[in-house]
Amino acid sequence: MAQSCANLLEQDKQIIAPLYGKADINFVKGEGSYLYDDQGNKYLDFVAGIAVNALGHQNQAIKDAVVEQMNHFNHISNLYPNYPQIELGKALLEITKFDKAFFCNSGTEANEGCIKFARKYFDRKGEKNRQKIITFVNSFHGRTYAALSATGQPAIREGFGSMPGDFVHVTWNDCEALKKEVNKDTCAIMLESLAAEGGVMTLSKEMVETINSLQKEFGCLVIVDEVQAGMGRLGTFLGFEKYGLKPDLVSLAKGIGGGLPLGAVLLRQHIADQLKAGDHGTTFGGNPIACAAGLAVTKQIADPALLKSVAERSAQLKAGLNALVEKYAFAKEVRGEGLILGVALAEEMPVNNIIAAARAEKLMVLSAKGNVLRMLPPLNVSEAEVAEALDKLGKAFAAAAK
Ligand SMILES: Cc1ncc(COP(=O)(O)O)c(C=O)c1O
Repeated sequence: MAQSCANLLEQDKQIIAPLYGKADINFVKGEGSYLYDDQGNKYLDFVAGIAVNALGHQNQAIKDAVVEQMNHFNHISNLYPNYPQIELGKALLEITKFDKAFFCNSGTEANEGCIKFARKYFDRKGEKNRQKIITFVNSFHGRTYAALSATGQPAIREGFGSMPGDFVHVTWNDCEALKKEVNKDTCAIMLESLAAEGGVMTLSKEMVETINSLQKEFGCLVIVDEVQAGMGRLGTFLGFEKYGLKPDLVSLAKGIGGGLPLGAVLLRQHIADQLKAGDHGTTFGGNPIACAAGLAVTKQIADPALLKSVAERSAQLKAGLNALVEKYAFAKEVRGEGLILGVALAEEMPVNNIIAAARAEKLMVLSAKGNVLRMLPPLNVSEAEVAEALDKLGKAFAAAAK
């Protein structure tokens, strides 16, 4: 039974730990690129569960795969091989040309896996000093301790006591700073293929070349966090393909599960060769239902027609956003790639004003660090839906400018 919004928020306040500022809205249904609230309002959803609903709401193939798997079993544990996990792994390895897959439940766990595998790799090889992991200022890798230590945002580490050590943060795209930090004791350079939460920041060509050459010179590993930018979002199956990085380890989550909790690490053979039973584990990781959904998602995202559509919709959305930047002095620049796009705003226009104005137009959008408006539409968004979003955003900018 649908609850009234005020009642729902009140109950949320009483029952749920106060870790989020929640909007006063009661969504009762999603379909494709749209969400519906209890008042009968229809919203164009350019948040997509923060890049989770890569194929929109109620994707039929995902529904069918979940129901089919539930007719077999929900869970059996990682003590036994499970078919959906193997099928999903096989599909991911075929598409990405990685050698092994490890499944978990979330982005932070995928990054924990990458960090543990990278350190274990050097430990087993007898290079026990290789502990240092270099990440980037304003990066976001998750909320568990090692992923938090990797995250280049001191404010979200505050008050949580001592962090796992040997994480160093250098400025995004600062090649000289990175060169100064990397040496023969470096375990890994860890980065997002596009720094999404940190302000929708793309990688420079020079930075990619610097990372590739440091990897070669010092034999350090490269970990690419594809949690938000992977799974087709940049118009390539994995984001790093767009830039020419050569990762040893990749983390995936968000879009891969089609709304179910699923994360993954993709490993090269040399890393997998140094791992043994018992080194790492998870009860739910690779859960058959989540993996069945993941396979339905993966097959659809790997379709060249879908990836081509991401590039086309990206160009359409970018052109519309650029027109807004031309028109409004408070809109400074368009940022991003594929379907992670944003607009950097001047200080005098807080991004929350634009988010509120967009919501009044029945368009859901979100923010990124540094007063940046961010958009993450489903990857199968249509041309008409992007046109509708731009129309709504134009009205929202005009209203916020008043
Ligand atoms: C790039 C990146 N890495 C890791 C995470 C953490 O993922 P999760 O919230 O599933 O733990 C996020 C979440 O926003 C992310 O954007």
